[in-house]
Amino acid sequence: MAETTTHNGERSSLPMQGVPQPRRGEVLNLPRVHISSHPVITDKLTALRDKRTTVPEFYQLVKEIGALLAYEATASLVLESSPIETPLEPMVGQKLAGGIGITPILRAGLGLAEGFRQVIPDAQIWHLGLRRDEETLQALEYYNRLPHTVDLQVCYAVDPMLATGGSAIDAINVLKRRGIPRLSYVGIIAAPFGLLKLAQTHPDIDIYIGALDDSLNDRGYILPGLGDAGDRQFGTF
Ligand code: PRP
Ligand code: URA
Repeated sequence: MAETTTHNGERSSLPMQGVPQPRRGEVLNLPRVHISSHPVITDKLTALRDKRTTVPEFYQLVKEIGALLAYEATASLVLESSPIETPLEPMVGQKLAGGIGITPILRAGLGLAEGFRQVIPDAQIWHLGLRRDEETLQALEYYNRLPHTVDLQVCYAVDPMLATGGSAIDAINVLKRRGIPRLSYVGIIAAPFGLLKLAQTHPDIDIYIGALDDSLNDRGYILPGLGDAGDRQFGTF
């Protein structure tokens, strides 16, 4: 990340100023990147982006979009045979093979994780706290509540905003160190810059997003975006 300085040597608060960014069209067809075209997600995204949307409405929409993205991101999960008896006769059904983990990247990932839990109520929740330094845009880890034993078939790192990609890349690095067999990232809105960086750094994961936006502004915020996803969920303006 380029660091700019003002004429008197102070660090600039415009860390993306002058940094080249890929265009949207250049990252539309990256391998293992799934950009939703679901009309219900698109409809809810419009309400989410709208600056008039209140904090409770915003949080509710994040949860609803989280459930819809969970539905898309779990479509390729592995099943195993499960013999059961219906009220009429025995049969061999199928159930998910192995546990499912959800890692909300705090804070903004909490609403998305809640939506995932509506689809997979018995998922384990592995909290991971990362905070983006707004001057350098580097992600700083401040909380980590991951279990000692891993018995998952997949873990989903969830965070509404993929901006420069720093937080997502660090989260996947942390999860990779736990030896989980399969990892995915799920976000609501991505910028081309962060999407390309995440896909290039971790080409072995699946990435699911609700929308691909145009660019980052000089401060590293997604355009048109929705503003600050954490503040809008929790009312901390
Ligand atoms: C936001 C967002 C992502 C990160 C994205 O979180 O929820 O975690 O920024 O930016 P990046 O792709 O450039 O890393 P923030 O650090 O503001 O923390 P918060 O969730 O507590 O609001
Ligand atoms: N984090 C946010 O919440 N919004 C952005 O646009 C970028 C990072």
